[in-house]
Amino acid sequence: MSDKSSNQMWGGRFAAGPDAIMEAINASIGFDQRLAAQDIAGSRAHAAMLAATGIVEPSDADAMREGLLTVLSEIETGDFAFSTALEDIHMNVEARLREIIGEAAGRLHTGRSRNDQVATDFRLWVRDQCDAVDGALKALMQALLAQAEAGADWVMPGFTHLQVAQPVTWGHHMMAYVEMFARDRARFADARKRMNESPLGAAALAGTSFPIDREMTAQALGFDRPMANSLDAVSDRDFALEYLAAASISAMHLSRLSEELVIWSSAQFRFVTLSDRFSTGSSIMPQKKNPDAAELIRAKIGRIFGANVALMTVMKGLPLTYSKDMQEDKEQLFDAADNYMLALAAMEGMVRDLSANVSALEAAAGTGFSTATDLADWLVRVLGMPFRDAHHVTGTLVAKAEAKGCDLPDLSLAEMQEVHDAITGDVFTVLGVHNSVASRTSYGGTAPAQVRTQIARWTEILA
Ligand code: ARG
Repeated sequence: MSDKSSNQMWGGRFAAGPDAIMEAINASIGFDQRLAAQDIAGSRAHAAMLAATGIVEPSDADAMREGLLTVLSEIETGDFAFSTALEDIHMNVEARLREIIGEAAGRLHTGRSRNDQVATDFRLWVRDQCDAVDGALKALMQALLAQAEAGADWVMPGFTHLQVAQPVTWGHHMMAYVEMFARDRARFADARKRMNESPLGAAALAGTSFPIDREMTAQALGFDRPMANSLDAVSDRDFALEYLAAASISAMHLSRLSEELVIWSSAQFRFVTLSDRFSTGSSIMPQKKNPDAAELIRAKIGRIFGANVALMTVMKGLPLTYSKDMQEDKEQLFDAADNYMLALAAMEGMVRDLSANVSALEAAAGTGFSTATDLADWLVRVLGMPFRDAHHVTGTLVAKAEAKGCDLPDLSLAEMQEVHDAITGDVFTVLGVHNSVASRTSYGGTAPAQVRTQIARWTEILA
């Protein structure tokens, strides 16, 4: 440390400090300062362990632990001067600790490296995100559940190929998303379980000759156990990739719901009205109410999936163990996490505020010959026709209605009997959309009774 221009943390063998460009490309403090709380928690656990194992004096460890709390409060109140010359959050914290407690700070890095340190900090950060996501997904599911409860028997068109297929219920449609977001939740919970092992104590890569207690630090940080291989511990970023993969799938679900809200709120559909709180106007067209939040959520998947691809690409082909490439693991994940959380909150608000246009939904439910399948099923059930024949007869009836410019229930019995003379007036009971949905009582089907069973099940799970 004789040459003041070389790095005080690792500059012993360096005669000169880094070029300004080198400093710029090397520094991560601009973004990894977000790991401050995790870094300090990790260091406090490490310091306590160093004392418990007799590696440092208890008085030194106490000074470290106290001093680290001072550093944390300085960072939290914005009184901390981050230095690019000190590269990253780890060295910024340690350098400040030295200013506060003096010499003893130099003993904190015993039996540890920035490699296991950053792996620990980042894991803790991603683990916190999994916990935050869990609450946000639960809130969104509850908002969907409230919509489903309100409209368990409102009829609307169900689509395939975005063509009217069969009538379904609003509640059933809402509950489809409850299922998706529940799977997302399970993916994060599963990833969290797997990531909850501590890299701390793997040191640079090979472990350490100091008699450290990795169980103790793992426990202090809420990990289930220490990671079993030190090489893997410092070079693994699967936890970040699993988070991004789960977030990508969930963002894809959000984008589908967003797309539906964009379509449904259009003047052509008028299925729903978005609240003023989650819409914007146009500066030139006074009549406009735009679904911007839905559009932005729909677009967020771009950066979330982008972060997933970026990190996969960074990690691909990296030899064991740590390489500086891995510093590129954080920035995009932070961005993805921020935007994913924002998208979840915005979607929850939009769904809560959403008002369905029940009469427009019902009117649309009967268009597009949506009860043609009910008619075919009736021919099978009542007249004993083979389904293929019933399909053909129904197709003929649809063509007839189409030619006449009316819907199926508007054909007269005589017109129906021209196609098949055994048809009776009873057929009209299945052509109404309410009867249609009420008849779909198979498990998981759209009948209000089935939908209510699922609503009750999820209400209990989420309670
Ligand atoms: N800032 C570094 C990162 O984010 C910390 C680890 C540095 N380790 C090293 N051997 N240079 O990955």
